[in-house]
Amino acid sequence: MTTEDYSRALGRSEDIANGEPLVQIRGMRKWFPVNAGFLSSILYKQELYVKAVDGVTFDIMKGEILVLAGESGCGKTTTGRCILYLEDPTDGSVVYAGIDLSTLDRTEMKDLRKRMQITFQDPYESLNPKQSISSIVAEPLVVHKIPITPSQKRQRVLEALESVSITPAEDFIDRYPHELSGGQRQRISVARALILHPEFMVADEPVSMLDVSIRAEILNLLLKLREDLGLTYLFITHDLAVASYIADRIGIMYLGIIVEIGPAHAVAFEPQHPYTRALISAVPSGDPTVKRRIESLKGEPPSPINVPSGCRFHPRCPYAQEICVREVPEDRDMGGKHYVACHFAGELGEPTNL
Ligand SMILES: Nc1ncnc2c1ncn2[C@@H]1O[C@H](COP(=O)(O)OP(=O)(O)O)[C@@H](O)[C@H]1O
Ligand code: SF4
Ligand SMILES: [Mg+2]
Repeated sequence: MTTEDYSRALGRSEDIANGEPLVQIRGMRKWFPVNAGFLSSILYKQELYVKAVDGVTFDIMKGEILVLAGESGCGKTTTGRCILYLEDPTDGSVVYAGIDLSTLDRTEMKDLRKRMQITFQDPYESLNPKQSISSIVAEPLVVHKIPITPSQKRQRVLEALESVSITPAEDFIDRYPHELSGGQRQRISVARALILHPEFMVADEPVSMLDVSIRAEILNLLLKLREDLGLTYLFITHDLAVASYIADRIGIMYLGIIVEIGPAHAVAFEPQHPYTRALISAVPSGDPTVKRRIESLKGEPPSPINVPSGCRFHPRCPYAQEICVREVPEDRDMGGKHYVACHFAGELGEPTNL
């Protein structure tokens, strides 16, 4: 990317940020009850929950690519599924294009779901090996009982395949998933999501199972589809390099909450939360002459069943102080729509606790 391209991209992200929200998520929680054994039910004397998503608030603007990033198990997929109401949130609200999703009955929700689609991480598992490419891509038309003739259906499948650059599309419709490469399978999965002409897509780790050499190809396809079709994405990844390549904004999740959110360049290049800094310092720079200060990240994330007090990152944080154990940090406004949930954001100083 040249500096000119980069400033153009920044300008575009700013225009989007000042536009209208498509999705508004407020205080959303998803707690899964744990089937506790006899012993733990005596020990805890209360119901236990996996607090997969534990109070997230953010907007996704029209035409935006908002990336949710964070380690495995931090609640990214559950957030995406709750936004589409594939899971009912335990608490909080999701407003999509002005409609509060909790007010819709099953039929209304099914109707709205034509406008929102999801693509999955594993292009091997998510495509039925016994179905032809044509029936895989046409599946949403069948599920949603779209009244069209067989020849119109074929036309829609061909159009969807062409839009993801599976060409000539006629050569692919009678093939089966095992005859395709990983990249082609992921394109098929995107074509299936596009056939209903959605406006919003949750792309859940769409490149993490793919060979590094074809990741950029799929990311560029998603960027092109945003341009061509005006799509809005919630893009989920555990990979910060992927996040900064594709995002307008990045939200960093840790144990069910968003600890930092802001424009991609600010979060990727001027991260303010100790957790984001640790994640970013773990990304290889690609330039062996650049020395980075590796921020230490102690241990594994704690269990989402037993969330630590105060700042939930404190047991692993190299900057933690006494207040962090007691008080939940509020979001600090760093300017430029960049928010950080840390008592010391903007004034971290030196690590206290290495
Ligand atoms: N249906 C479920 N029942 C119980 N726990 C779940 C369920 N789905 C996810 N979880 C738990 O919720 C947490 C967040 O999971 P997930 O949203 O898949 O994280 P991520 O996508 O960031 O890896 C994990 O601890 C996971 O084990
Ligand atoms: S609030 Fe304290 S423990 Fe949490 S990230 Fe900031 S410094 Fe670390
Ligand atoms: Mg996931």
